[in-house]
Amino acid sequence: MSLKGRDVISIKDFSRDELDLIFKVADEMEQYTNKTLPILSDKIVAMLFFEPSTRTRLSFETSVLRLGGKCIGFSEPSISSIAKGETLADTIRMVDGYADLIVIRHPLDGAARYAAEIAESPIINGGDGSTHHPTQAMLDLYTIRKKFGGIDGLHIAIMGDLAHARASASFAYGLSKYNVKLTLISPPQLRMRREVVDYLKEKLPNVNEIERLSDVIKDVDVIYITRVQKERFANLEEYEKIKDLYRLDCEAVKNAKESMVILHPLPRVTELSPELDNTPHALYFQQARNGIPVRMALISLIMGVK
Ligand code: NCD
Repeated sequence: MSLKGRDVISIKDFSRDELDLIFKVADEMEQYTNKTLPILSDKIVAMLFFEPSTRTRLSFETSVLRLGGKCIGFSEPSISSIAKGETLADTIRMVDGYADLIVIRHPLDGAARYAAEIAESPIINGGDGSTHHPTQAMLDLYTIRKKFGGIDGLHIAIMGDLAHARASASFAYGLSKYNVKLTLISPPQLRMRREVVDYLKEKLPNVNEIERLSDVIKDVDVIYITRVQKERFANLEEYEKIKDLYRLDCEAVKNAKESMVILHPLPRVTELSPELDNTPHALYFQQARNGIPVRMALISLIMGVK
């Protein structure tokens, strides 16, 4: 099995065996996360970030540097020729000639797939629109696998802005490859889109949509929570009405299993109380750190150096 030259657009495009390969290589990469493994030394990776990012961009850049490669790119489209009216297609055509691999983040659904149609170099989707963020899903699955020794058999709750958070949808798509019980928890206004739920129900025998965490708190192994995605609301008054509708704190998880863990792709706003940070449930900072070995593994597999 080889991932050489593969575009990474959606987690749906990856088989369970391919994910296992990425996780196996990520396990090997753990020992290099604070030193260099110079296997990418003649490669240049472009980071095209058309939307804000901290973790995704910095962990991609760190991963390239730890592998001995070099990065070019922008984290703010206003300082590139986009500000002069250059189209996405032209930007991709240019960068394709400069870099061996392109990581793109974009506000529009489908932007990464469109870029992949234009570019000859492989494209990695660093999050586009409200649906796909495949490398986030990979590191989320990797985090669970490391914590529980596997993913099958777990009861996983995804909670929050399921309508707009691409991290939630991608994580759910990733879980659909495993034998899990899945509970989707959100206020009615923020339910997961029908097409995503229909797909999940086709793949998984046990998918439930509920409104209150308290109904399942005793049974869940993982709670995956996201912030309300303010930037996806056309109407900010709508956002204001919704933004405080859910919150996870010590009180909300007091009846949980001791082994229950909380994941969050971060950044958090008010939905995840810092009082949970020092409890054994908090796995989100470890989750963010796991972005490095997982992205090191993925980049080296795609570049054919692993
Ligand atoms: C997420 C994103 O950009 O989709 N952040 C991330 O990549 N870790 C989540 C978010 O912005 O809420």
